[in-house]
Amino acid sequence: MKILVTGGAGFIGSNLIRHLLNQPDISVLNIDKLVFPGSYHTIEDLDKLPGTKYRFAAIDICDYKALNDLFREYSPDAVMHLAAESHVDRSIATPESFIQSNIVGTYQLLNTAKHYWDDLETGRKDEFKFLHVSTDEVFGSLSLDAPPFSETHPYQPNSPYSASKAGSDHLARAWHHTYGLPVIISNCSNNYGPHQFPEKLIPLMIIKAVRGESLPVYGDGGNVRDWLYVEDHVTALFEIIKHGRPGDTYNIGGCCELSNNDVVQSICSILDELLHDSKHRPHKSLIRYVTDRPGHDRRYAMDITHINKTLGWSPKYEFKEALRKTVMWYLDNNHWCEKVMENSYNGERLGLI
Ligand SMILES: NC(=O)c1ccc[n+]([C@@H]2O[C@H](COP(=O)([O-])OP(=O)(O)OC[C@H]3O[C@@H](n4cnc5c(N)ncnc54)[C@H](O)[C@@H]3O)[C@@H](O)[C@H]2O)c1
Repeated sequence: MKILVTGGAGFIGSNLIRHLLNQPDISVLNIDKLVFPGSYHTIEDLDKLPGTKYRFAAIDICDYKALNDLFREYSPDAVMHLAAESHVDRSIATPESFIQSNIVGTYQLLNTAKHYWDDLETGRKDEFKFLHVSTDEVFGSLSLDAPPFSETHPYQPNSPYSASKAGSDHLARAWHHTYGLPVIISNCSNNYGPHQFPEKLIPLMIIKAVRGESLPVYGDGGNVRDWLYVEDHVTALFEIIKHGRPGDTYNIGGCCELSNNDVVQSICSILDELLHDSKHRPHKSLIRYVTDRPGHDRRYAMDITHINKTLGWSPKYEFKEALRKTVMWYLDNNHWCEKVMENSYNGERLGLI
């Protein structure tokens, strides 16, 4: 099976590709424009794989011609679309690139896939799938006592990021209903794990705590997210591409609701334990409450009944154990952090108006 993955130099995409390449009979074409050029460091070892199992193309998904040429030449059996501008804070500061990559880019990719799929011979046409990977943030903010989001929850995006992802979900849905393209949509909660760019909460807190810098927690730190280890997300995506039903939508979540306070304090306790000689112990003394994110959603949580009943998927990793693995990974891979952040990000606050 030949799978075209977009955004494969990013956090979830690179973990997904490693998982796919461990399966027999799967090869991957990775398309990524390297928003942070240092991200190539995340995947450069894959270029050394022998044979035709893996290929990388540094392409922008807004470039219809480049996409079209690659589809015709590679001839994929499936598409897993993860490329996106992904950081809410950046979307507040510079929304335009989010509209461009997430909405226009998804449109160009759907359009290319449709023209390619139209021309496939019958057997391959029937088997083809296009998985559009999205987020729980499209559903908006939950009150603390509301039930988790189901697949039929109304879309109520509140940030430029979630609005751009919602727009792309609607396009993906329309390309299925109007043109018959076998599109599946997945909406997932907050991920954590190795290779997450250090501007996101968990890696940022780890890196700052190790350096002895203050740990900026937005608002009162009570915002709740449903945390999922990236390896669990990747196995869900693989189940969906193998057995998911075109036209369907799957919610994916960790069944692990925690406030930012809980998460940051857990990171601090793990670091206290792992770095017993650190002069910054107890690391929780570095926590500082800072101005909240504009429009900060209070709570997200996912109801995973549908994917569990239809595909038998549920998360396997327990939070404390997987967070510990994640902290250890960042401690062991400081060189990776330095490389990907080089000339692009140095831990500064983003997204204040
Ligand atoms: N991280 C999460 O917690 C989370 C949760 C749910 C859904 N998602 C979704 O999963 C996907 C991957 O998220 P991530 O956390 O790995 O993000 P990421 O920012 O780490 O990776 C995204 C990748 O897409 C690439 N990209 C961006 N614009 C592009 C363009 N125009 N053309 C080609 N490549 C482009 C970037 O270079 C980057 O490598 C996104 O669609 C995101 O919305 C993420």
